[in-house]
Amino acid sequence: MKGILLAGGNGTRLQPMTNVVSKHLLPVYDKPMIYYPLSTLLLAGIREILLISTPASLPDYRRLLGDGEAFGVRITYLAQPSPDGIAQAFLLGRPFIGDDACCLILGDNLFYGNGMTQLLEDAGREAAEKDRAVVFGCYVNDPGRFGVLALDQDGKVADIEEKPKAPKSNYAVTGLYFYPPGVSDLASELRPSARNELEITSLNQLYLRQGRLSVRLLGRGYTWMDVGTADSLAQASAFVQMLHARQDAVIAAPEEIAYRKGWISKAELIASAEKYASSGYGAHLAEVAAGKIPY
Ligand code: TTP
Repeated sequence: MKGILLAGGNGTRLQPMTNVVSKHLLPVYDKPMIYYPLSTLLLAGIREILLISTPASLPDYRRLLGDGEAFGVRITYLAQPSPDGIAQAFLLGRPFIGDDACCLILGDNLFYGNGMTQLLEDAGREAAEKDRAVVFGCYVNDPGRFGVLALDQDGKVADIEEKPKAPKSNYAVTGLYFYPPGVSDLASELRPSARNELEITSLNQLYLRQGRLSVRLLGRGYTWMDVGTADSLAQASAFVQMLHARQDAVIAAPEEIAYRKGWISKAELIASAEKYASSGYGAHLAEVAAGKIPY
């Protein structure tokens, strides 16, 4: 299973913060936003990752994440010349994906919840072994901003509508998608939408029409945040800070995930802890290395 981390776009809703800094490098409490979706890929067990961003921001990501060695994974980089749609990732990423299944996560999506690892591993298996696409629906009070599930009387997905004016449910499709081998071929059938983008919703509709789309609903035990506005950025920071303060839970530390998965050694974890010796993040890694934080 390959993983694509999509971190392009213009971030216009966060201007002027995004005038010179990519949205996904802005802080969510104690770490750059991109650490959260990167950690989700790691939790899914994915170790080959392609990060796609704008030509201007790509060097910043390279400087931040390097070749992925500190996280026990391999990260490569690719420019998206202009933000022509989320599904373009599968055309740009075709040589990287090859004949494998592929998970795509948007760089501004934060997931948290008990059982997340199991959920991700199951979805990955379904895509890779059962030749199906897997997406996640989450109840929100403002579904019209997203791709929205239209459910029939039996609760089965009848359609997915992109930013509908009259949403047929409160279930938004999140920015985490698992696709079986061949996704680039299907994506190449897409044509630009009215807003001139290759829409991920159109790709999901193709899988739906072929009877190859699984939709899993994220229940109350999960938190999903799409961090695209100043309010959601502040809320995400407050959420992470609250978990940190009350439970000593540092979420989305990729070095910690890599260590617990056995992808990096204790010495490598300690090296990262020492690199960040002055910050709370470094102190947390040191505590993990010392065995002080329960799993
Ligand atoms: P959006 O939030 O829809 O767009 P944006 O990030 O440019 O923000 P704004 O609406 O404020 O201008 O994009 C969702 C995610 O997908 C985000 O993480 C950026 C990413 N993206 C790309 O990397 N390339 C693209 O072509 C598009 C459309 C989005």
